Amino acid sequence: MMKNKAVFMSGTNNMITKEVPMPVPGPKDALIKVDVVGICGSDVHYYQHGRIGDFAVEGDFILGHECAGEVVAVGSAVKTLAVGDRVALEPGKTCGKCKYCKTGRYNLCPDVAFFATPPYHGVFTKYVTHPEDMCFKLPDHVSNTEGALVEPLAVGLHASGMGEVKLGDTVVIFGAGCIGLVTLLSCKARGASKVYVVDVLENRLETARRLGATDTVNARECNAVERIAELTAGQGADVVIETAGSEITVKQTADVVARGGTIVLVGMTAKDETSFNFMKLMGKEGNLKTIFRYRNLYPVAINAIASGSIDVKSIVSHEFDFDHVKEAFDFVVSNAKDVVKAVIRM
Ligand SMILES: NC(=O)c1ccc[n+]([C@@H]2O[C@H](COP(=O)([O-])OP(=O)(O)OC[C@H]3O[C@@H](n4cnc5c(N)ncnc54)[C@H](O)[C@@H]3O)[C@@H](O)[C@H]2O)c1
Ligand SMILES: [Zn+2]
Ligand SMILES: [Zn+2]
Repeated sequence: MMKNKAVFMSGTNNMITKEVPMPVPGPKDALIKVDVVGICGSDVHYYQHGRIGDFAVEGDFILGHECAGEVVAVGSAVKTLAVGDRVALEPGKTCGKCKYCKTGRYNLCPDVAFFATPPYHGVFTKYVTHPEDMCFKLPDHVSNTEGALVEPLAVGLHASGMGEVKLGDTVVIFGAGCIGLVTLLSCKARGASKVYVVDVLENRLETARRLGATDTVNARECNAVERIAELTAGQGADVVIETAGSEITVKQTADVVARGGTIVLVGMTAKDETSFNFMKLMGKEGNLKTIFRYRNLYPVAINAIASGSIDVKSIVSHEFDFDHVKEAFDFVVSNAKDVVKAVIRM
């Protein structure tokens, strides 16, 4: 008999490992042996603060929503998956019935159950069940680590897609955390000619340059708006994608966007309300968009990784194992400067 175990956050900055029941797949579910789970900024935020906005952790709670693993059993009605398949799990289970689901915009479904968004447990667990249609097969040469990174990559693909980034474009990305970097990879893959990345941490900017940024701007060392004006010969960027989640950078998007250009807000600011110069944007007839997670992009991300158009594994900087999940979180909390992306091998 296989045994299941999970790592729970138990109050802030604390974790415990417990034996938990082996989940039983329903007719249309697969049972997955989890292999790799990425640590996301939101996991770390719950770990430190116990809540994000209105979502509060109550009781012992399993974090983790970026994962890949192996199918070890399937329900009686499952047709497309077999034992032994390796899969990436798309974390949100939606109702399938509302107008958003029916029009393919299922990321807007109000009844979503998303891994590691309270009250739904996440995947720092040895085994988990998941609906067949939310498990995406990984080709042989795509690793489980890459499979786990499909989740953040889908955010970058959605952001660059909403910005309609295309061949020849000039793009500015604020923030070079995991999301900024996958956005960079997505913009390059869509054909952007120039991608400038702004951050305040040199190791992340270094990673951005390694991943193909045309140039980087350290906002600690210069005025980012002036520097981007120089880099773009005063024209600004066709598309500006904000992934830093700081009030300053949200505001700066209106300064660096080109006339007629598009801003996409991805980062979440600490305060819900943040100031923005709408009249500056109007003077340029600029567009302002936001994104919420992603939709229909797991197959796209997996194909892009498989074909080599997107090298997502290069953003991983640290790896830990199942017995060191707490150490991994504490390390990420206290070494933000050095960690670009950490993953757990289960
Ligand atoms: N909208 C969505 O659906 C969605 C999905 C995933 C993540 N997010 C949000 O995206 C943001 C980025 O996520 P992440 O995991 O990459 O976070 P992160 O904290 O790793 O990255 C943010 C980066 O912004 C940089 N930064 C901070 N202040 C800056 C400034 N003034 N100028 C330039 N750079 C600055 C930081 O140094 C850091 O590298 C978060 O706010 C997260 O909540 C949104
Ligand atoms: Zn995430
Ligand atoms: Zn729905």
